[in-house]
Amino acid sequence: MDNRQRTEELERRTAQAMEGGGKDRIEAQHKKGKLSARERVGLLLDEGSFQELGQLVTHRSTNFGLEKQVFLGDGVVTGYGTIDGRLVYVFSQDFTVLGGSLAEAHAEKICRIMDLAMQNGAPVIGMNDSGGARIQEGVVSLGGYADIFYRNVRSSGVVPQISAILGPCAGGAVYSPALTDFVLMVENTSYMFVTGPNVVKTVTHEEVTAEELGGASTHASKSGVAHFTAPNELEAIRHLRRLISFVPSNCEEEPPAVPYTPGDELRPELDTIMPENPNQPYDIRQVMNAVIDPDSSMEVHADYARNMVIGFARIEGRTVGCVANQPAVLAGVLDIDASIKAARFVRFCDAFNIPLVVFVDVPGFLPGTDQEWRGIIDHGAKLLYAFSEATVPRITIITRKAYGGAYDVMNSKHIGCDMNYAWPTAEIAVMGAKGAAEIIFKGEIAKSADPQAKLQEKEADYKEQFANPYEAAARGYIDEVIRPSETRLKVIHALRMLRNKVEKLPRKKHGNIPL
Ligand code: HXC
Repeated sequence: MDNRQRTEELERRTAQAMEGGGKDRIEAQHKKGKLSARERVGLLLDEGSFQELGQLVTHRSTNFGLEKQVFLGDGVVTGYGTIDGRLVYVFSQDFTVLGGSLAEAHAEKICRIMDLAMQNGAPVIGMNDSGGARIQEGVVSLGGYADIFYRNVRSSGVVPQISAILGPCAGGAVYSPALTDFVLMVENTSYMFVTGPNVVKTVTHEEVTAEELGGASTHASKSGVAHFTAPNELEAIRHLRRLISFVPSNCEEEPPAVPYTPGDELRPELDTIMPENPNQPYDIRQVMNAVIDPDSSMEVHADYARNMVIGFARIEGRTVGCVANQPAVLAGVLDIDASIKAARFVRFCDAFNIPLVVFVDVPGFLPGTDQEWRGIIDHGAKLLYAFSEATVPRITIITRKAYGGAYDVMNSKHIGCDMNYAWPTAEIAVMGAKGAAEIIFKGEIAKSADPQAKLQEKEADYKEQFANPYEAAARGYIDEVIRPSETRLKVIHALRMLRNKVEKLPRKKHGNIPL
């Protein structure tokens, strides 16, 4: 073989690797509204930036005739490239090769880029489209998954890890995404389940479609497994690129900043946003949108536990994580799902040096047997824990209610918040005025000739004393009571002041968050 022939041999092999499972299977993939593994990588990364690793890797199994089904790359495209010029590592499973199933060699390729990402401090983006453990290869498939899970955990909090679910992901294929920071699903073409509808039917006799069991809307609204959904793969990939723009490459770096030209930072519309009636809802997103840079938000978990709003945004061009009670849904009450949703986000922001801006309007924790029996004590404690251990700059704005334990939990001064602001409409108290009056003046009300009038009088007294921010401000729990229109300005100044904040946690192996 001369050198020209040797080069041709390379070209032949490369062309073969590019084909994946073949033209017909790629066409079938397209017909389902899905892109091929390589098309996805091409769209995700800056043009021409992809550097592939392990293109010629093959499996070494001879089980069940697998020696006749050898594909270059073994069903996963791996490598590195850039998004907006920043290094990222990527793997993209190829459903056209043995259903994107994972076994020894496939797993080794993923592990290799995860190791490189850790050593070089850059995010890992996984594009998952896999039938799970490659059944023919047996236990090495399980071993391969565990090798990935182990790296997911070791990388957690070191480099951001993002999973896109772009096809039917079953069995082991769902656990690696679950260990990563964010999961994005595509509507109607992606599924996640530990066991599919057929197994469900056999074991529990439940009849359920794949979409109902583990489609994008199920995981975005019912289970909370998916943080984001997209109507199609193009949108999904755009979303991934935007998500990367908010996060730093690793835990030692600051998030990237975009240029910002200071202007008039007063927001007069906020002075009239609060309804006169304290029980009337309003949309906290309107408040948040006025405080952050225009059009800079990316909501996380938008359809899950909607009584809590969380998401990334920018202030003066720098990333912040926003956490807010949503009075427009269940009066903004704290329940199990809302607590878990916010706690996980707070921990991500803290791990990756993203300051927290928290908006509080919360009537308390949701009472009742359902919540108590499912353990709201432990789940609510997760949020308390997450805020208490966060060392990033932390700012709180109480717009209206901050009652009971929920006042403490929602980034209060007592649990380490740096700057606490309240609007004049804030009500900071142990509980609502009516409930408080009924308890502390029970005897007096009962003895009164007109108990109803007495209750109203006592309720008004309690309101007068506590349904305002001044008792808390007098004790320094609130740094400043501000006009709503000044909120953005105050937050800008506070974030500038806190930019070099250094706070260390006591030395320990790790804490023990109530899981
Ligand atoms: C080997 C697989 C495979 C797998 C699919 N294929 N899954 N090969 N191992 N796990 C192959 C199929 O045989 C088929 O090959 C091709 O991929 C396409 O699959 P189809 O079934 O034709 O596609 P579709 O109808 O779209 O259904 C996709 C699917 C289904 C829902 C993913 O294939 C499926 O249910 N697969 C099995 C899922 C599963 O039980 N996985 C193991 C889980 S156990 P041909 O050549 O016929 O086209 C597990 C343990 C790890 O993961 C646990 C760690 C915690």
